[in-house]
Amino acid sequence: MTDPVRTAIVTGAASGIGRATAERLARAGRKLVLVDINAAPLATVGDALREEGADVRCHVADATSPQAAEATVASALEAFGSVDILANIAGGAGPRNLHQIDEIGLDDWDLVMGLNLRSTFLWCRAVVPLMREAGYGRIINTSSTLARGKMGPVGTAGARLPYAAAKAGILGFTSQLAKDVGRFGITVNAVMPWLAITGQRMQDRYDALTPEARQLLLSRAPAGRPAKAAEIAAAIAFLASDEASYMSGVGLPVDGGFLE
Ligand SMILES: NC(=O)c1ccc[n+]([C@@H]2O[C@H](COP(=O)([O-])OP(=O)(O)OC[C@H]3O[C@@H](n4cnc5c(N)ncnc54)[C@H](O)[C@@H]3O)[C@@H](O)[C@H]2O)c1
Repeated sequence: MTDPVRTAIVTGAASGIGRATAERLARAGRKLVLVDINAAPLATVGDALREEGADVRCHVADATSPQAAEATVASALEAFGSVDILANIAGGAGPRNLHQIDEIGLDDWDLVMGLNLRSTFLWCRAVVPLMREAGYGRIINTSSTLARGKMGPVGTAGARLPYAAAKAGILGFTSQLAKDVGRFGITVNAVMPWLAITGQRMQDRYDALTPEARQLLLSRAPAGRPAKAAEIAAAIAFLASDEASYMSGVGLPVDGGFLE
């Protein structure tokens, strides 16, 4: 079954899971509005997808800005006539590896909460009125297995405490928004990935692990390896499809059976 042509906004599309999601949605025939704060890699992704025949607009924007969210959604509507899918993927645990609570400054806290939770709220708030009017919508937010916390050293996770709080917040947000908008034909779900080695910073953190720490990390993964970004994108693409019409409010683990 082929879905009608749908328009998708993907935040954090210049790298990692966002890029893999953009590629996957483009292959499914979606029109795309790709958003990232990082202009050059975003342009590279846009150009590559256009070369494959996809209809793509790129918006350089800070996902934590309400004005950027509103303006991007308005221009997507003008360009494509609808906004049917929102994949909120911009996020992360910040640049600093912080372990104990008293190492975490208010700036660290606000940065990580803003990038993950505030941005999720802002982009959902910008698209829901259009989706409600259209009687159709697919929203996918990005949580993490870390929403339930993690034992041991910080490893690849950056500021783990605000990150866990934000990713858990995204689950509550997703669950409530799903209930609020379900009767308008809008589904709202979250994916909960375990580790995928995406950008260079993540690779550096992974490479810096001692062999023992890496062994311990991988011993919790039944597949014995991290995820590929495309494997997470596949789950997002399913939740974005027309046929995922009776799944909503879910925090879907995409973690290879990760052992907590
Ligand atoms: N990679 C993992 O192991 C993993 C696991 C669980 C959850 N996640 C979540 O998946 C999402 C993507 O992770 P990734 O590993 O692909 O990250 P990544 O760092 O490879 O990509 C994140 C993208 O978001 C962009 N971005 C950062 N701040 C932004 C802002 N303020 N506005 C707009 N764009 C911004 C970056 O430029 C980058 O292109 C994040 O929400 C992350 O928390 C990742």
